[in-house]
Amino acid sequence: MANDILFEPVTMGAHTLKNRIIMAPLTRLRAVEPGDVPTILAAEYYSQRAGAGLVITEATQVSFDAKGYAGAPGLHTDDQVTAWKVVTDAVHAKGGKIVVQLWHTGLVSHKSVRPNSETPISASDVEVGVRTTLRDSDGGAIRVDATPPRPATIQEIHQVVADFAHATKCAREAGFDGVEIHGAHGYLLHQFWTPHTNNRDDKYGGSKENRARFMLEVIDACVDAWDADHVGIRISPLGTFNEVEDRNSEAESVWLIEQINKHGLMYLHLSEPDWAGGEPYSDEFRQQIRDAFDNLIIAAGGYTAEKAVKNVEAGYIDAAAFGRDYIANPDLAERLREDAPLNEPRSELFYGGGVEGYTDYPTLKKVAS
Ligand SMILES: Cc1cc2nc3c(=O)[nH]c(=O)nc-3n(C[C@H](O)[C@H](O)[C@H](O)COP(=O)(O)O)c2cc1C
Repeated sequence: MANDILFEPVTMGAHTLKNRIIMAPLTRLRAVEPGDVPTILAAEYYSQRAGAGLVITEATQVSFDAKGYAGAPGLHTDDQVTAWKVVTDAVHAKGGKIVVQLWHTGLVSHKSVRPNSETPISASDVEVGVRTTLRDSDGGAIRVDATPPRPATIQEIHQVVADFAHATKCAREAGFDGVEIHGAHGYLLHQFWTPHTNNRDDKYGGSKENRARFMLEVIDACVDAWDADHVGIRISPLGTFNEVEDRNSEAESVWLIEQINKHGLMYLHLSEPDWAGGEPYSDEFRQQIRDAFDNLIIAAGGYTAEKAVKNVEAGYIDAAAFGRDYIANPDLAERLREDAPLNEPRSELFYGGGVEGYTDYPTLKKVAS
């Protein structure tokens, strides 16, 4: 079959993935507040998708301070660990593997979701005009302007590093197969890496070495908290997401990947920019990334089975992650194997709410019965 290569097992750190079809991290904003605890419905939602070679959870806060969206879950309290354990058990019971994506939202935040209504932190006080999502009184999602940020102090940077380490320990306790550091999409770590939002003049700003320092310190802390075989990272080289432009060149992006590679992480996850209006990566850039990173490379962003096969066969990537198609097709891997038609995602139900648009998408089996 044309898609066979996507069903060849592949190594990810200490694990073997049964196929190369990955569920991309997808924020759904259905956690319980206060407390930012995932619901039992999350266990059903993720376990429905256990046919993926790997499930990556929605972005999940490393502390209450890291929050930027109403309804996003955290992984730093006992209650959250207990609730996530139900999710990981459910995915494992169906033969799946699951890692948690860990984030600090930085400037993509609103004071109403932050402890004591504090001003969000970022690398600097640059305002990008981004919006974030809050809840209305019916539990639905509403978009609002983010609160303008202030620069993080050195002490706050150290605290965030410690928070990533703590969340990594919580992930291990909750039964996850690893963690994915969110270094992409204009969130806090990316706000330090791109000159667009970083005009600091201390050791966390200026040169590429300084702008990468925070991300690399977080990697070190997560590896210390678990080990490199259980830590991956997502970055979005050259992309603009959340109004934050990655103003690094291709050469600087490859340099960053070389630094990441020194840590021996289980995977590098590329969020490609073209599904969000950016330029597609050139084959030359893809090859340079491949040459810079030794372990598993996952890529996402407008992937079809055909594009996945092409880039895996070319050796640029090892696996492809699917976002919107995984929202709408719990059995996406099975459908791609059979070349079956896909359900259409209902974008108005992406954020907030309950069952509808979350756990009610039919599988092929259900359609047939
Ligand atoms: C509803 C929605 C929520 C998303 N949430 C996250 C997230 O929490 N973390 C992240 O890194 N990317 C997130 N993304 C980006 C996806 O992981 C993925 O890169 C993007 O949807 C492009 O892949 P696709 O074309 O297969 O949908 C989100 C995308 C969508 C549509």
